[in-house]
Amino acid sequence: MDAMFNAYTQALANYAKPQAFVDMDAFDANLAALLKRARSMPIRVASKSVRCPDLLRYALEFSEQFQGLLCFHGLEAVVLAQQGFTDLLVAYPTTDAHVLNTVCQQIARGGDITLMVDSPQQVAIIADIARNNNVVVPLCMDVDMSMHLPKLNFGVYRSPVRTVETALALYQTIAVNTHVRLTGVMGYEAQVAGVPDKVPGQGAKNHLIHYLKQRSIKQLHQRRQAIVTALKDAGAELTLVNGGGTGSLESTIQDTSVTEVAAGSGLYSPTLFDNYRAFKHQAALLFVLEVCRQPSPEVVTCLGGGYVASGAAGKDKLPVPVWPQGLKFIDNEGAGEVQTPLTGEQLPPVGEQVFFRHAKAGELLERFNQVLLVRGNKCVGNAQTYRGLGWQFI
Ligand SMILES: Cc1ncc(COP(=O)(O)O)c(C=O)c1O
Repeated sequence: MDAMFNAYTQALANYAKPQAFVDMDAFDANLAALLKRARSMPIRVASKSVRCPDLLRYALEFSEQFQGLLCFHGLEAVVLAQQGFTDLLVAYPTTDAHVLNTVCQQIARGGDITLMVDSPQQVAIIADIARNNNVVVPLCMDVDMSMHLPKLNFGVYRSPVRTVETALALYQTIAVNTHVRLTGVMGYEAQVAGVPDKVPGQGAKNHLIHYLKQRSIKQLHQRRQAIVTALKDAGAELTLVNGGGTGSLESTIQDTSVTEVAAGSGLYSPTLFDNYRAFKHQAALLFVLEVCRQPSPEVVTCLGGGYVASGAAGKDKLPVPVWPQGLKFIDNEGAGEVQTPLTGEQLPPVGEQVFFRHAKAGELLERFNQVLLVRGNKCVGNAQTYRGLGWQFI
């Protein structure tokens, strides 16, 4: 039997199932590995990939090189500010009046929150609400880092700002308004950071992706540098230029315009981050189910388990049973809403525990009010998740 399986089985034996848990030794190892990969560049922690304030705080206290949070929602930034977190950059734009008013009120109380923009309309709406609240809102400009090929958008659809001209035009709408101030630029190269390039059994595709990544890295670094230089020349006093994610640290730190990288998924290292050429982190977030029945000699059934990740639907978005080894889903049923049948050579008996990993980092915690914290074969504590705190933003 695998030592890990034995350790987790002992650590979790007395807890109700399903449970999510963080292997804190693996979490520490991942934090250390991220710091090393980023060399000396500051890392802004992507909160959506963690969704647990205690673990966000733990990461920020682990090293001074972890600086600030990349939040996914304005109201999230507000509640995090109320819990004492500072340097909160909201990575996705919003024009929602309730959210913007709440953010402005928090800024008026000293909240250290920066909002994302990529269009004059967003700037106008934010500036109006900022004026009504008598505050100046710091803004960050999201710049598109995708590589647009004739039949492929190698990247993601985010910002329409992809030229120096559009960036300068947007900057002018900010510069003329006294209630907003441009303080940052963010360019997230999803096609490098979020696309694995060493997937077993996909040799030709891995080569193609590696080639496209190399081509796009060159192009996007030039674009980010040109836009940052032009904005500074036009008078923007930028305090941050954010780039990258867990999967791109090695290349993002090479861009001389970048002052900080973002990383979140690398802390838990879900299955979608298993197959990259440049790094391998440790599985730190898992969940455990009980085998509750055995419908046939070839199949056992676990209670729970249907925690499927977002994104383009596919098998890679399913959780993965990891211990005991050799268990597989049944194609017809997959990871079920309330029960998950599994098959394999050696089936665990009724009452046994089965350990799984999720495909993405933070989403699993939307299913659990707490995560247990495990070291070796002991449960050493627990931490409330966003869900446990009643925090729901998206
Ligand atoms: C703007 C931005 N930066 C960085 C990331 C990378 O985060 P992670 O390290 O979790 O992949 C994301 C994830 O989607 C993102 O939206």
